[in-house]
Amino acid sequence: MNFVGRHVLSVDQFDREAIDRVFRISDEMEPYAHRKRITRVLEGAILGNMFFEASTRTRISFGCAFNLLGGDVRETTEVKASSLAKGESLFDTARVLSGYSDIIVMRHPEAGSVAEFASASRVPVINAGDGPNEHPSQALLDLYTIRKEMAARGRRIDRLRIAMIGDLRYGRAVHSLCKLLGKFDGIQFNLVSPPGLEAPDDITEGLRSRGHQISLMHELAEGIHHVDILYVTRTQEERFPTQEEADRYRGLFRLNQTVYTENCEPNTVIMHPLPRDSRAQANELDADLDQNPNLAIFRQTDNGVLLRMALFALILDVADEVHNHARPVTWYTAKRIPRR
Ligand code: CP
Repeated sequence: MNFVGRHVLSVDQFDREAIDRVFRISDEMEPYAHRKRITRVLEGAILGNMFFEASTRTRISFGCAFNLLGGDVRETTEVKASSLAKGESLFDTARVLSGYSDIIVMRHPEAGSVAEFASASRVPVINAGDGPNEHPSQALLDLYTIRKEMAARGRRIDRLRIAMIGDLRYGRAVHSLCKLLGKFDGIQFNLVSPPGLEAPDDITEGLRSRGHQISLMHELAEGIHHVDILYVTRTQEERFPTQEEADRYRGLFRLNQTVYTENCEPNTVIMHPLPRDSRAQANELDADLDQNPNLAIFRQTDNGVLLRMALFALILDVADEVHNHARPVTWYTAKRIPRR
């Protein structure tokens, strides 16, 4: 895959060689992400960070990643603060914003909207989540985290055993991660959801056709035995036709330390794309797991910066130049990594 000037709209674009390249460049970003060195390789470049739907970590980490490479960030944070609220089309919005930016990151509540926007953009566009469809950079950072967690256990991604838990129907992070893992060999997927929130058929059929083992399950305790990774997700309430319907699924699956101890193999890794819904009536991932060293959720969020720096460096064709524009940090920096 040639990254230069390309949009990133779906994980379907990535083969294993491309994934390896992204991960190699992500590794190289560590000194800059951890504030040991500064690079100005993207000095003068502007990121349009266009979020037309709520976000904390994706928006901020894309912005941090661009700043850490020396570029500037302009952003909008919701539809009502943009002229989309006045009826402007995605086409016109893309034509305008791509005149102000060298690259655009976009999130929007409708499936396919980022691809529509990209078709009118004059600069590369990265999909930061289009409705229930895809969230490719999340899946890449999740896979990067899985690779690191498994390497620490002397394992590889091939022949991974993973339980995907929760709202698999509307969870775009799950959709992208399933498709990305599907490119590896011999993965065992336990797809554990309440009835009605199963993963879309095209995803399960796609995995089966590649020879992976798929088990569709409706009981949490059954699904989390004998796996390497638990990938827990929130019920995506904002995607349901009515709040009443969403409420029917709230709090059905709750992973806490007791459930973990009683059902999981020692050192099973716990992941979640976040945000977790910590309201008492939901609480799919209990805070009593926060001291569990196998909880990788904040390692995932830290890895998001490295991974997003790598995407920018590859798309804007500076991956080989980053270190030529570097110098040491001279100000106080907090100890950032390793940590939970
Ligand atoms: N994982 C994720 O997309 O989080 P945000 O919605 O906070 O960006």
